[in-house]
Amino acid sequence: MSELNNDRYLRALLRQDVDTTPVWMMRQAGRYLPEYKATRAQAGDFMSLCRNAELACEVTLQPLRRYPLDAAILFSDILTVPDAMGLGLYFEQGEGPRFERPLRSMADVQALPVPDPEDELGYVMNAVRTIRRELKGQVPLIGFSGSPWTLATYMVEGGSSKAFTKIKQMMYAEPAALHLLLDKLADSVILYLNAQIRAGAQSVMVFDTWGGVLTPRDYLEFSLRYMHKIVDGLIREHDGRRVPVTLFTKNGGQWLEQIAATGCDAVGLDWTTDISDAKRRIGDKVALQGNMDPSLLYAAPARIREEVATILAGFGKGNGHVFNLGHGIHQDVDPEHAGVFVDAVHELSRPYHGG
Ligand code: CP3
Repeated sequence: MSELNNDRYLRALLRQDVDTTPVWMMRQAGRYLPEYKATRAQAGDFMSLCRNAELACEVTLQPLRRYPLDAAILFSDILTVPDAMGLGLYFEQGEGPRFERPLRSMADVQALPVPDPEDELGYVMNAVRTIRRELKGQVPLIGFSGSPWTLATYMVEGGSSKAFTKIKQMMYAEPAALHLLLDKLADSVILYLNAQIRAGAQSVMVFDTWGGVLTPRDYLEFSLRYMHKIVDGLIREHDGRRVPVTLFTKNGGQWLEQIAATGCDAVGLDWTTDISDAKRRIGDKVALQGNMDPSLLYAAPARIREEVATILAGFGKGNGHVFNLGHGIHQDVDPEHAGVFVDAVHELSRPYHGG
């Protein structure tokens, strides 16, 4: 078992004792940091940054140099998997992600390969190995993927979407095609996350950014079912340690019990759920990750600290809380405010632990 200097994050996910509540931020490596923008410019563009192990490692470590974060997250993107399936990912300046060859029909879905993670996605595994080496056991490394449903929305819509018109049309007109797609994606994600774990990821998180746009019935059938399949297929112990799995459905507050029942170790919460309610509902089964509104980082330091204190009091005493934002940090946030947030979690949470 390789040694970790700080394993609070892993311990909290397993609901074990910690001295202070661990904290990290979704999208902690990103455009709010001037040093990130400089490294991305050096790489040329976002995908070149993801494909260059040394530069991906550099941007992964940048937020850890500024703040005493309790975890690092692999610098990559959820859309690497559809790209490896042949859809041709590209980023237009200011437009977000796009695919050259979006899926339109059952025939397109049938022709999709399940990518070999050590081959088409070998650059991600190289980044994981490089980051682990450079972290030198400082904090654990989180690996991640998108949920099958969330990946499918981009693959069918051809990019970001507001109304999800095309994928919902497919859901009603050709449900068998969508189920085949989701099943292939679940198989691909299992291989991809297990390869990340073998390469050195010490915990993995599944981002279901768009599960919350489904009806309550459709969420269970088209999103949660395939995340459950992933949880069942993952390596849960590696290098002498449990590898915790976190599931995060944005806008998923109404399904917390069902998410917790998949056998995951932790459930991510966005800011629309009260953490004390979430703890009462599922806190005896899983750890909770979250859940400050990322917009709070626009507020003055005193207001940020007050919000951190409120969330800590909502969770109360006891183990099983990983502090985070309820979604990714916004790109126009003042980096100093992120520091206020991280320090407030460590300082204000001490009374809730020990004794
Ligand atoms: O958290 C981290 O620091 C690790 C890196 C990470 C990125 N994307 C880097 C990134 C992670 C975990 C993701 C996940 C991701 N990517 C999700 C799920 C989480 C979420 O935010 O809901 C989704 C839906 C995507 C797809 C994606 N990638 C979009 C919609 C965009 C454009 C967003 C924008 O604001 O322009 C990306 C690009 C992307 N991925 C960036 C970063 C830092 C910005 C690209 C840039 O530098 O120009």
